[in-house]
Amino acid sequence: MKVVYPGSFDPPTYGHLDVIRRASLLFEEVHVCLLHNSSKKSSLFSVEERVNMLKEVVGDIPNVFVDFYDGLLIDYVKEREIGAIIRGLREITDFGEELRMAQANRSFSGGIETLFLAADPTHSFISSSMVREFASYGKTVEQFVPEPVLMKIEEKLIG
Ligand code: PNS
Repeated sequence: MKVVYPGSFDPPTYGHLDVIRRASLLFEEVHVCLLHNSSKKSSLFSVEERVNMLKEVVGDIPNVFVDFYDGLLIDYVKEREIGAIIRGLREITDFGEELRMAQANRSFSGGIETLFLAADPTHSFISSSMVREFASYGKTVEQFVPEPVLMKIEEKLIG
């Protein structure tokens, strides 16, 4: 099956990478798709920067493809003939919003399923917003993000 792993990836973290790697072992093709999250008003990285970082960190996984889509996830799913949506679940506080999105996407698309991968405990507290916040106060985030992302963060925040 061909699946999509959607997200805003601002920036991509080890938590994202773990879900991508595990999904790549389960499914024929994993399409990592950068989409806009309407509840996030500003971003640290541009779409192009995020796509490039994603491409760099998944470059060694042959059945993973990186994409950007300026629209609804369910329209991307329909256009690309995707079989299911993959999301990671880190902790109970993720659940409400994830359930709402999964149900809305299933209802509006006429049946697309969302499958959840439980975050590895070593990654369950990592979020892009936490990475952005610590990095913006000069803290190192090397334990949370892959090397190419770390370099981009340092470039952006330190100059
Ligand atoms: O990494 P995030 O910010 O948790 O990802 C959320 C994302 C981008 C997957 C979600 O906001 C999304 O699907 N955006 C695309 C627009 C869309 O389909 N909205 C309806 C969601 S129910």
